[in-house]
Amino acid sequence: MKRHRVVPLGLAMLVCGASGCRAKSSGGEATASSVPAASTTQPALKTAFREDFLIGGALNPEQFNGRDTKGGEVITQHFNTITPENVLKWEHVHPERGRYDFVPADAYVAYGERHKMFIVGHTLVWHSQTPRWVFQDAAGAPVSRDTLLARMRDHIHTVAGRYKGRIHGWDVVNEALNEDGTLRQSPWLTIIGPDYIAKAFEYAREADPNAQLYYNDYSLENPAKRAGAIRIIRELQARRIPIQGVGMQGHLKMDWPSVALEDSTITEFAATGVKVHITELDIDVLPQPTRNRGADVSMRAQAAAGLDPYKAALPDSMQQALAARYAAIFAVYLRHRDVIDRVTFWGVADGDSWLNGWPIPGRTSYPLLFDRAHQGKPALDSVLAKARGPRETTPSRPRGEQ
Ligand code: GLA
Repeated sequence: MKRHRVVPLGLAMLVCGASGCRAKSSGGEATASSVPAASTTQPALKTAFREDFLIGGALNPEQFNGRDTKGGEVITQHFNTITPENVLKWEHVHPERGRYDFVPADAYVAYGERHKMFIVGHTLVWHSQTPRWVFQDAAGAPVSRDTLLARMRDHIHTVAGRYKGRIHGWDVVNEALNEDGTLRQSPWLTIIGPDYIAKAFEYAREADPNAQLYYNDYSLENPAKRAGAIRIIRELQARRIPIQGVGMQGHLKMDWPSVALEDSTITEFAATGVKVHITELDIDVLPQPTRNRGADVSMRAQAAAGLDPYKAALPDSMQQALAARYAAIFAVYLRHRDVIDRVTFWGVADGDSWLNGWPIPGRTSYPLLFDRAHQGKPALDSVLAKARGPRETTPSRPRGEQ
């Protein structure tokens, strides 16, 4: 039975155990009891899963700057880990050459520290939400490999270095793979070459030797793409470049991936020796405009009749179907609790979700555990019910391979 986890926190350690997370340093223990619970009788997710994995959400500035008070109550009651939805992406934190804007990111990190949370950084190297100047010279032509490597190193050292010992884990590289498992033809690949991934991890390691470093992507349940991610992990390991975790984003559909596919994907990642983080969990209940199973942020689709069916409310039958889907997925996570460190939802309440705007703008989506009024949905109850149930003891990887 997993009693507690210890994660590096600079010179200190964060111990997340039965009594919540607390910072522990060689000079004594800093009390980090959980913040007061919101006034509700609902059990807290973070307490229900305290023996299993951390539970969190992606936050926007309204939440960490305190303007969204209802969202704030959900976060402090239920979550012990946070991810920034946008403020640490390149276009926000480093919008122009030589100009960094750390104001929102500083507030995000300070919020996580105030609430004694496991603070995730998202993301250092990605093809999206990265300004064009990064890849271009003054004339608009592609820069050389050396120039782009120097820019990447400066960015990673400046951003991860600023939060050294304070941000506990970084999505170092996001979405480097195509669905067939080959490397995406992003400017990072075409200008630097395939070793851009290894370089990003090396620079992140230099910037903060104690932060956990992750590779993060969507639809890793797709066997071909999963194989590509395993190749990335194995190659880093072969070159002795540390990687602690794989981030399975988990933008799930009602009918994909199957429970069996989710299960086998986690088992295969576990065999590489890295930890699994579920990093961007949501379940889309709306009709899919295409057969695309992924979560490619650049995808756009046309609004059409029948594609926004729950404008007024989610019918009870769909609430129940969503609750059942969440329960089945959490049953898989619980089965793999020995290798899963964290489950983070992509958003807090339904009204915050990116799925209201993707791939068709202006729809009304219901992908999370809390509704637009920040009340727990039947899906919250079903997930909490799973937490009360028995734990299977089959380890995801044979003993001795932890
Ligand atoms: C991807 C990214 C996230 C976010 C979502 C959609 O999964 O990793 O940062 O942009 O898309 O919002």
